[in-house]
Amino acid sequence: VKEVDLPPDAPSLLASLRSIGYSLGSALADLIDNSIAAKARQVQIQFRVHGDPYVCLLDDGEGMSRDTLKGAMRHGSTSPGSERRSDDLGRYGLGLKTASLSQCRRLTVISVRDGKISGFQWDLDHVIQRGTWALLELDPSELRSLPHAEELDGAGVGTLVLWQGLDRIAETEASIEAGLTGQMAIAGEHLQLVFHRYLAGESGLSKLRLQINGQELAGLDPFLEEHRLTQKLPAENFSVHRSRVSVRAFVLPSLAKLSKQEIQRAGGAEGLRNQQGFYVYRNKRLLIWGTWFRLARKDELSKLARVRVDVPNSLDHLWTLDIKKSTATPPEAVRTHLRRTLERVRDASGRTLTFQGRKRATALAQPFWSEIDWNGGHRFSVNREHPAIQAMLADLDGATRGKLTTVLTAIEQSLPIQAIYARVAAETVVSEADDGFKQSEEFRGLLDLILTGWNPQDSARVTFLDTIHLIEPFNRNPELAKQLAAEIASTKASG
Ligand SMILES: Nc1ncnc2c1ncn2[C@@H]1O[C@H](COP(=O)(O)OP(=O)(O)OP(=O)(O)O)[C@@H](O)[C@H]1O
Ligand SMILES: [Mg+2]
Repeated sequence: VKEVDLPPDAPSLLASLRSIGYSLGSALADLIDNSIAAKARQVQIQFRVHGDPYVCLLDDGEGMSRDTLKGAMRHGSTSPGSERRSDDLGRYGLGLKTASLSQCRRLTVISVRDGKISGFQWDLDHVIQRGTWALLELDPSELRSLPHAEELDGAGVGTLVLWQGLDRIAETEASIEAGLTGQMAIAGEHLQLVFHRYLAGESGLSKLRLQINGQELAGLDPFLEEHRLTQKLPAENFSVHRSRVSVRAFVLPSLAKLSKQEIQRAGGAEGLRNQQGFYVYRNKRLLIWGTWFRLARKDELSKLARVRVDVPNSLDHLWTLDIKKSTATPPEAVRTHLRRTLERVRDASGRTLTFQGRKRATALAQPFWSEIDWNGGHRFSVNREHPAIQAMLADLDGATRGKLTTVLTAIEQSLPIQAIYARVAAETVVSEADDGFKQSEEFRGLLDLILTGWNPQDSARVTFLDTIHLIEPFNRNPELAKQLAAEIASTKASG
């Protein structure tokens, strides 16, 4: 055996590493991981589309000395096998370099520590020209001429990552102006979601402030935890290889109870249904979301279900975490637990979504439609006990009553279930929020129909007027309904 030293060819390896598959958002997220690990409280992203376009990220973290920074510029600065602090978001010793060079041709990192400034640069064109791993060191006066370097100088601590030569961003777009602005908007949303727990300053985390060109970014909570109608199932903890994994399931409120903005926030560009699934956080940073890991299908019934899974970085090796930190697969020990949570939350989501007729029928409330368990499935039927239907039936003679019943049955049997399902799935149906039956004239017409047959002293009539706000469709505007009922009660009493 003879040993041969065969280092990689710098230009080709650097060029290939550019294509790991980062988006602008995931590349910036990788830089923010580093800032958080360096205990930064504030991260400012700046970009300019004119002149010599650039993107930079400035943090107020602990910074790096010259030697540390030089080490950090090396590809593979730490081994994935080495133990990390429990709050470190890094793993591969690559992110800073690969994320940056996936977006730009020239990466400069400037850092201040103990009042001393130092800076190094990877310039792809220089590496190609030299054919070696030729890192450039910039002297303080060269550093100070770079955009935003003076802000770092003033702060006395922190790190500035600067991307220039944004060839990748311009590649797929009509112009760098349109491309960078558009992609940065998408990236911003990505960061609002990925770091939402840091941005919210969840207990146990120090709150992070994040800005893009001076605009403050707020966290985007995918569980709508603040919403009073979000159901929170009890948290469950279990341990895997002596590390704690904690799981908590949420069921979002039904669509009719959410505002347009909330639907947009919770569903994003791909819609609520697509975003159902597990949300896996590694050290509170969102890693992967909107998937059931092939443990279940994404279907309509579970579309309101989202399960938060918290894992520590000590389990990285089991999850087969990728370099971009955007994919990971739960190990079998975790899957077993997830499967159980999944059943519970799908159940709860289904209950929130399904028609509420059955629930209400048990109370005084009267829906127009009821859901009936039938032949192992479900059927929907017009509720013959509804006061309006009762009034009609009472008003008719035997033969016409039979005809009405026949027509009702025919309507029930031709309910366009498939079409309704398709509309609901596409989130274009807004049945409960519909404006129909909210106006006083519409209520009046129906009220008169119901009240005609009733003797004013009839106790059923009194009960009806008392519970009118629970009866469909009057329950859509309970205040108006109560008011009408009170008017009717008083006119009859005085007349
Ligand atoms: N903003 C920063 N402030 C202070 N130190 C930093 C900063 N960015 C990077 N570093 C240092 O540089 C090192 C290399 O960063 P890099 O992102 O390349 O790898 P990593 O974070 O260790 O692992 P990963 O590849 O998983 O991100 C870090 O371990 C950290 O010590
Ligand atoms: Mg990193």
